[in-house]
Amino acid sequence: MDFFEVVSTQRAIRRLTPDPIPDEAIDRILEAAICAPSGGNRQSWSFVVIRDAELRAKIGAHYREAYFKELFNLPYYRDALAASPDSPLAKVVASSRHLAEHLAEAPVLILACLDARGMSPGITQGASIYPAVQNILLAARALGIGTTLTTIHRFRDRPIKELLGIPPEVETAALIPLGYPLGKFGRAPRRPLAEVVFFDRWGGPRPAC
Ligand SMILES: Cc1cc2nc3c(=O)[nH]c(=O)nc-3n(C[C@H](O)[C@H](O)[C@H](O)COP(=O)(O)O)c2cc1C
Repeated sequence: MDFFEVVSTQRAIRRLTPDPIPDEAIDRILEAAICAPSGGNRQSWSFVVIRDAELRAKIGAHYREAYFKELFNLPYYRDALAASPDSPLAKVVASSRHLAEHLAEAPVLILACLDARGMSPGITQGASIYPAVQNILLAARALGIGTTLTTIHRFRDRPIKELLGIPPEVETAALIPLGYPLGKFGRAPRRPLAEVVFFDRWGGPRPAC
């Protein structure tokens, strides 16, 4: 697939079939992950591939519990529940709720982890793992496999780390369910460039040619 078609049609796919994903596809996706940049090229990332049905069920239960116990308390979630069912926010919430109820049915979960010891705290820490996560999303899309970048598992970080034997000092950055999509890939709604791109200064308009 053409790169620009991949990147413009990659989006959160939360309704997945339980059909198995071939090992070669997982390998290609992970090869793409490790092409990503990281601070100082330290590559202090790890990717736990979870296929075992019992483990997926346990992680799914943690995810569901985090979703229904913690997310409901967040203001944006309450706004979404109050919004019209046709609003974009309500649609995201309906779809994320479906995933929360069915996470364990995804045939593969990838937990992207980062050993951030020694890194300066702040936003740049994530920059050493989320490019790899994005490569996973894009490579999966190129192979026709649906994914979503999720972080709700962080509300149940400790039991999930214990379950998988992840050392306490390692951060779990994203839990990515993978599966063949029930729905369709397609261009996702985004703010237009004119709203988010400035030239030469904050708020600067595109210079006339
Ligand atoms: C930092 C981050 C955290 C996210 N966490 C979750 C999550 O826990 N659960 C979920 O269903 N989606 C999660 N998402 C997916 C977003 O909801 C999704 O990327 C956004 O709605 C855009 O979706 P679209 O590409 O289909 O338009 C997360 C995305 C990001 C970037």
